[in-house]
Amino acid sequence: MGAKRVAVFASGNGSNFEAILANWQETGFEDGQVSLLVCNNPGAFVLTRAKEWKVPTFVCPSRNYPDKTAYELAILEVLQKHQIDFIVLAGYMRLLGPTLLAPYEGRIVNLHPSLLPAFPGKDAIGQALEHGVRISGITIHFVDEGLDTGPIIYQQAVALDPDETRQTLTAKIQQVEHQVYPEIVKACVTEQVVLEGGKVKWRKQPFNVR
Ligand code: GAR
Repeated sequence: MGAKRVAVFASGNGSNFEAILANWQETGFEDGQVSLLVCNNPGAFVLTRAKEWKVPTFVCPSRNYPDKTAYELAILEVLQKHQIDFIVLAGYMRLLGPTLLAPYEGRIVNLHPSLLPAFPGKDAIGQALEHGVRISGITIHFVDEGLDTGPIIYQQAVALDPDETRQTLTAKIQQVEHQVYPEIVKACVTEQVVLEGGKVKWRKQPFNVR
């Protein structure tokens, strides 16, 4: 079996995109390969990272398309051209519609900076601080049509200090994300964890990413 071809979708900084590439290189992971970056924001720093890592990019500002279906059809065409098997959302700030969800059902994952179902949507870190929670964290889940609602694959908690700021909490959460997301994506692309009848099934336990 050849390496699974993975497309990462990102809109901004791209630290998780780079963490996946670095981890897979360092650990000699050969069953998956980041073969494409899809980015809806032409000014995003993730594009600079993709250039450094020599990952092909598709830059697609949604305003260039008449509607969401046309936008996603354009992306789908590029995914098919690059023979993409699996989609990884890493700070991609748009909801996926049926045009992309249907052909990649069970083969799209997302990373979210809270313990879902708490604080879905935008600015999960700000929401956690606003509510004064003592524990937040990260969630990795399969993607469905909802806003951060898909079946949960993995979660890890992060404790908040009484004097936590947006900056310190972001740093703590990102540190966990960079450690965990590349490993969970490995498990997904090698089908150690799959979506079966709408439920998450681990085929190989125990699983340890720490
Ligand atoms: C990450 O913290 C990720 O959890 C979050 O965006 C950040 C992207 O950082 N995703 C969401 O909020 C999705 N709702 P990065 O561009 O440095 O990887």
